[in-house]
Amino acid sequence: MTRVALTRRFPESVETALCERYDVRLPGQSGAMDAQALREACYWADVVCPTVTDDLGGGFVQSLDPARLRCRLFANFGVGYNHIDVSAARALGIAVSNTPDVLTDATADLALLLMLMVARRAGEGERWLRAGHWGGWQPKQLMGREVSGAQLGIVGMGRIGQAVARRARGGFGMQVSCFSRSPLPAELAAELDVQAAPSLDALIAGSNFVSLHCPSTPETRHLIDAERLAQFSPDAYLINTARGDIVDEAALGQALAAGTLAGAGLDVYEREPVVHESLLGLENVVLLPHLGSATAQTRAAMGWRVAANVAAHLAGEPLPDPVW
Ligand code: 8YV
Repeated sequence: MTRVALTRRFPESVETALCERYDVRLPGQSGAMDAQALREACYWADVVCPTVTDDLGGGFVQSLDPARLRCRLFANFGVGYNHIDVSAARALGIAVSNTPDVLTDATADLALLLMLMVARRAGEGERWLRAGHWGGWQPKQLMGREVSGAQLGIVGMGRIGQAVARRARGGFGMQVSCFSRSPLPAELAAELDVQAAPSLDALIAGSNFVSLHCPSTPETRHLIDAERLAQFSPDAYLINTARGDIVDEAALGQALAAGTLAGAGLDVYEREPVVHESLLGLENVVLLPHLGSATAQTRAAMGWRVAANVAAHLAGEPLPDPVW
């Protein structure tokens, strides 16, 4: 019987379906697997289904003993796959798939939530209230900045960037610009009512909010570093729901503490689950625990997308969501 190993527990409906079809090994513990357990999974299973918390980088893949290797597919539970060295895996005969589309709306919603939370000082206000400091309404209490009508700069115009643009333009009347690796087709730019910025620096300089939606690659590592942070307007906000290493967290902490940037809304971090200590004591940053796709509907849809890739792979059919 075909063997499938999950590295984390999936939504129940998906697990049940997988268990009916295959010999499924479910992880016992609630934390991430260590490298030894991951290696054993690759030796035991035909398909391993990892998540963002599994380090399947070059070091790990090259540590696999080809003579013991049974796994031929990493069916990733998630759209981002920077934790997997895809070319090293392919060199060993392991294909890789991901789960695009199904988490676009949930992640775009969260980017808007972060914009609203940080600009309207929602986290700060709630902490203050819970600490018993609220003595009643006052005309100048916890005044934030308006999101409606503000200038939004989107970095990365893939599915999630586009979904953020739709919400921001249609829902909040924001003026939206973008900067992305591949130029946005003119028709799409017109449909979304988005202007393409000539450079990242120009995008940053002209935005009240900059929202990151590009993948994590060697080229985007620390794309937002101290130099770029210095180009933000002091009343601007940075939003990151993409990957933590796109931002130099230490430099961000300094900019936020110095007030050269009004605030930041973060869902992802350079060394998850560690959050840079300079950020933890600041009021002008909203810190969420990687919640981008965390709705029951989306997590189930991600599981079904993994299941579809597993089924296609085992049937010898093209993967619905191959990653190259
Ligand atoms: C997932 C994400 O929950 O899909 C992604 O890339 O960042 C998250 O929303 C996570 O990757 C699960 O593996």
